[in-house]
Amino acid sequence: MTILVTGGAGFIGANFVIDWLTAGLEPVVNLDKLTYAGNLENLASLKGNNRHVFVRGDICDQGLIEKLLTEHKPRALINFAAESHVDRSIHAPEDFIQTNMVGTFRLLEAARAYMNTLSDAEKAAFRFLHVSTDEVYGSLSPTDPAFTETKRYEPNSPYSASKAASDHLVRAYHHTYKLPVLTTNCSNNYGPYQFPEKLIPLIIHNALAGKDLPIYGDGQQVRDWLYVGDHCSAIRAVLERGHLGEVYNIGGNNERANLDTVKSLCAILDKERPRADGKPYSAQMTFVKDRPGHDRRYAIDARKILNEVGWRPAETPDSGFAKTVAWYLANDAWVKNITSGAYRDWVAKQYQ
Ligand code: NAD
Ligand code: TYD
Repeated sequence: MTILVTGGAGFIGANFVIDWLTAGLEPVVNLDKLTYAGNLENLASLKGNNRHVFVRGDICDQGLIEKLLTEHKPRALINFAAESHVDRSIHAPEDFIQTNMVGTFRLLEAARAYMNTLSDAEKAAFRFLHVSTDEVYGSLSPTDPAFTETKRYEPNSPYSASKAASDHLVRAYHHTYKLPVLTTNCSNNYGPYQFPEKLIPLIIHNALAGKDLPIYGDGQQVRDWLYVGDHCSAIRAVLERGHLGEVYNIGGNNERANLDTVKSLCAILDKERPRADGKPYSAQMTFVKDRPGHDRRYAIDARKILNEVGWRPAETPDSGFAKTVAWYLANDAWVKNITSGAYRDWVAKQYQ
């Protein structure tokens, strides 16, 4: 038995594959296009591990997906592959439509064809798990209740709209073709191997490099932060115990305004790697132009996954932020490699 993971060289996918194999679960076939966000160094700890097969390829290539399914006969396909950065989707939405919408469609088509080749027992065991985001639900006011799974979809960015479209396709393939799907909608993740275009690694990286810590608008936008290892354990739990065709929200019950998140990271860095001049890292905080259409607040109501699947997060932001800062401090070579070249072009375009 194997599983097929897509996007397993990215931030969450790599954490998932590493945790999965560390737990001694089935071999993994890992399909990734290696876009700017995919990085084989994330998988360096798996070098020589014959339970991990890496394949460079595109989820839009249906022939390749069908070949991998026929060859490896996985009992599950877990789809992490996506364009995932809201700011990039504002600058250039095309890739988001291709990968997130068309790519998910191709995966669904390949899975549908694969199902027809399986025995009844294999069909009953097979799962297509689609990893999605809470951003499909839109933006909350400070007093709105947190997102439940029945909240109306109101995506506001090209990123969230493309993920919303992919969720609808996944739902339709269950309803129409009885494809055994599961969908998870998770809040903001942070942790090891996150590309420093996203808030938390960007702040840690800029702080240590003596650069400005850019805070969009008034910094009062709220996100519900979840440690990546908790997201991975939630996906494993949904894969094993989730009910077919159901959607599960995943969140940390940890809402924080961006300004408070940045201040928390600065305080940890002040302790762990004080600035040479003795000043606090918060002195580097700078308010910059807001993101167009910036969603004000995301918050997850995680009662369904607790009640139906028995999952809850293990980390709090205090423990998770400290672990994450420690990881970035210990892995400056990884950061150095990733922040050379094209990354600099992105920073120049976005912040200047
Ligand atoms: P990421 O951008 O770090 O990684 C995405 C990976 O997908 C990369 O390795 C990239 O090379 C690969 N990829 C992109 N296009 C591809 C294609 N056409 N074919 C094959 N591979 C391709 O993203 P992430 O933060 O790890 O997010 C993973 C998934 O989780 C995404 O679906 C995202 O929408 C979802 N999600 C992310 C968060 C978060 O906070 N990061 C929260 C909730 C849900
Ligand atoms: P991000 O990590 O891009 O995730 P998302 O947009 O998917 O929630 O951003 C998290 C929050 O931090 C979001 O409200 C935008 C804000 N932000 C900044 O204030 N400054 C930055 O430089 C970045 C990248 C994000």
